[in-house]
Amino acid sequence: MQIVKLDAIPSTNDFLKEMARNQSVENFTVVMAESQTHGKGQRGAEWLSQDGKNLIISVYIDRTSHFSHGIFSMNVAVAMAIFDTFSLLDISDLSVKWPNDIMAGNKKMGGILIENSLRSDGTFTSVIGIGLNINQTDFSALPLATSLSNLMGRDYDKSIIAEKLLSQLESYLSPTANQDQLWKDYRINLFRLEVESKFELPDGTFFSGIIRDVDYQGRIIIEKDGREERFSLKEIKLIY
Ligand code: BTN
Repeated sequence: MQIVKLDAIPSTNDFLKEMARNQSVENFTVVMAESQTHGKGQRGAEWLSQDGKNLIISVYIDRTSHFSHGIFSMNVAVAMAIFDTFSLLDISDLSVKWPNDIMAGNKKMGGILIENSLRSDGTFTSVIGIGLNINQTDFSALPLATSLSNLMGRDYDKSIIAEKLLSQLESYLSPTANQDQLWKDYRINLFRLEVESKFELPDGTFFSGIIRDVDYQGRIIIEKDGREERFSLKEIKLIY
């Protein structure tokens, strides 16, 4: 595994994508940074992280082809790798907020941004970006976020957590990983599974429903007025 450690860059995802455009990049090449000036989050949001405090990691995956249930299985594998890494640290009330935010209670501890590119031969390459809040304690600008340090009341050695996470990722992303088991674990650990929740639609209207499942296309399945409906990421927002 090739690991590139950097100080401050715009975004580890962009760095790795640019690297792959200019040279051949080995499968599972990892880029880590102490800080990002333009960290990217989901839905076009910015990913904010205090300098040096947290884990900022991107992993390059060459030829993403072995997922029997489709490409969203990669999100599932990455979410469960983070989930299991945090579980080993005895964090209580961990869950995965669809599609792949890592939560402790009602607060977000980590996020994942996977960017796939289609090659001319039909195969995919993926850059898996992971941001995990480890030693940051001030979240005044992010009231719905927390960190390992906030939860446990002490600082952590980031490199030990990174090592554990990368080995968990290698195992869960390998062609021999038990994808059915990963999907099962992902589903039972979904945030607000089987409880009445409030959702917002793109037109600004709200409705109440119950999260029942996530399908292999990565759509959330919500029971609404006694019927199941499926929504993709851009079509719905959970209010919590
Ligand atoms: C989210 O919105 O939850 C996804 C956050 C992903 C952040 C990580 S930090 C490392 C990588 N580089 C980026 O610019 N973004 C991802």
